[in-house]
Amino acid sequence: MSTTIKQLHKQSSVNHRTRDEENPGSHHSTPPYSPKVIKHPRSLPRSIHYCFREQRLLFVLVGILIGSTFFILQPSLSHLGPPDPVTRGSFSVSSNLSDSSSSSNPFSATDQPRYRPVARVPVQIGKRRRRIVVTGGAGFVGSHLVDKLIARGDDVIVIDNFFTGRRENVVHHFGNPRFELIRHDVVEPILLEVDQIYHLACPASPVHYKYNPIKTIKTNVMGTLNMLGLAKRIGARFLLTSTSEVYGDPLEHPQKETYWGHVNPIGVRSCYDEGKRTAETLAMDYHRGAGVEVRIARIFNTYGPRMCLDDGRVVSNFVAQAIRKQPLTVYGDGLQTRSFQYVSDLVDGLVALMEGEHVGPFNLGNPGEFTMLELAEVVKETIDPSARIEFKANTADDPHKRKPDITKAKELLNWEPKISLREGLPRMVSNFRSRILNEDEDKGL
Ligand SMILES: NC(=O)c1ccc[n+]([C@@H]2O[C@H](COP(=O)([O-])OP(=O)(O)OC[C@H]3O[C@@H](n4cnc5c(N)ncnc54)[C@H](O)[C@@H]3O)[C@@H](O)[C@H]2O)c1
Repeated sequence: MSTTIKQLHKQSSVNHRTRDEENPGSHHSTPPYSPKVIKHPRSLPRSIHYCFREQRLLFVLVGILIGSTFFILQPSLSHLGPPDPVTRGSFSVSSNLSDSSSSSNPFSATDQPRYRPVARVPVQIGKRRRRIVVTGGAGFVGSHLVDKLIARGDDVIVIDNFFTGRRENVVHHFGNPRFELIRHDVVEPILLEVDQIYHLACPASPVHYKYNPIKTIKTNVMGTLNMLGLAKRIGARFLLTSTSEVYGDPLEHPQKETYWGHVNPIGVRSCYDEGKRTAETLAMDYHRGAGVEVRIARIFNTYGPRMCLDDGRVVSNFVAQAIRKQPLTVYGDGLQTRSFQYVSDLVDGLVALMEGEHVGPFNLGNPGEFTMLELAEVVKETIDPSARIEFKANTADDPHKRKPDITKAKELLNWEPKISLREGLPRMVSNFRSRILNEDEDKGL
């Protein structure tokens, strides 16, 4: 039965088709059947001809031109738009002072909700500001260095454990998006992404470095190792602030960088002197062995505003004593000599060294040589001519003479100090006066 129905249906469709073919003038809507033309693959001349016909190629070229013009102009056009947090440098290394893990990645997940970048290449990628770490940046020298770097337009991250550093030294930068302060001890590793590392973290005055000598040597050895390791890992340039103490009680005068020193390896000052000598060794080995770009500064006595008031260093001692109307303490016979460099001169020298192409070591100091008694006289002239001098027994291992030969820095860094002791002292005195006054007020005096 079903076979019969199928045959009938087939028959009727065949009949239907035959009728249409026989009657071309029929008004039936179905078009007449025509077999599909077999397309032959186009030959090359035909394709070229196709492109040139009806100015097709011209339209394609104009399209390419418009497209490329847009992509070339697009970055500069974005300058005209509203300020973009990405390009204004809001991508600070860390948004949380105590969270060093998030600070390791400027684009970390925690930062993304606050600074969601728009989906295009950041405009500043080719000319972004430099990001610089200053360890010990809340200390005396470090805070002046930070001022200079911020003023120059860099992003600065200060790492400090506040052993001798103070928040007050950098408080004027709080709120500046280009400044960050991380409480961290350099004896522990830290991961940051920066271009340059100024490694200053280390107590510098005998009172402070002798307070915990084991910690001092740890800071010098493990702290320097950690920061050199960081420099190696991220390809940053590394500057070590070493000291004239590496010359010990020198047998050569003035001291050139080629002098190897005369240092007591087991004395009470060795934690500092030998610590810095080891730090220099580490820096040179990372340079030779791992290709780290290092710079070594050997700093001579430096003074200026923000020095610790009672740190036992001779300039701060004399100035504080004269302001407090106390006798100026001279150790030994007062004929031992020192040279005194104003802090802004030192900071200029450190920056010149970091930016230059020479590893060093370089002596950075003021070659003007004063005995302790001469220094006491200058302090008296500047602050209180009636101040008395009091002599006390000298401390162990106090070097007799110290004066830098700065020929190398003059020639290769084009640097030399500009500020004399008589010019520099008054600049420091006003800062000391106000701090001593505040201290007295706090004590209710
Ligand atoms: N001022 C000078 O006359 C002089 C001379 C020679 C060398 N230097 C060197 O210059 C650098 C700065 O000296 P300064 O006079 O500013 O001394 P400073 O004591 O004022 O500053 C040192 C800073 O390092 C910080 N610090 C110490 N140990 C640390 C640690 N383990 N982790 C993190 N931070 C730590 C301190 O809190 C402080 O802020 C030091 O390396 C010092 O050896 C200074």
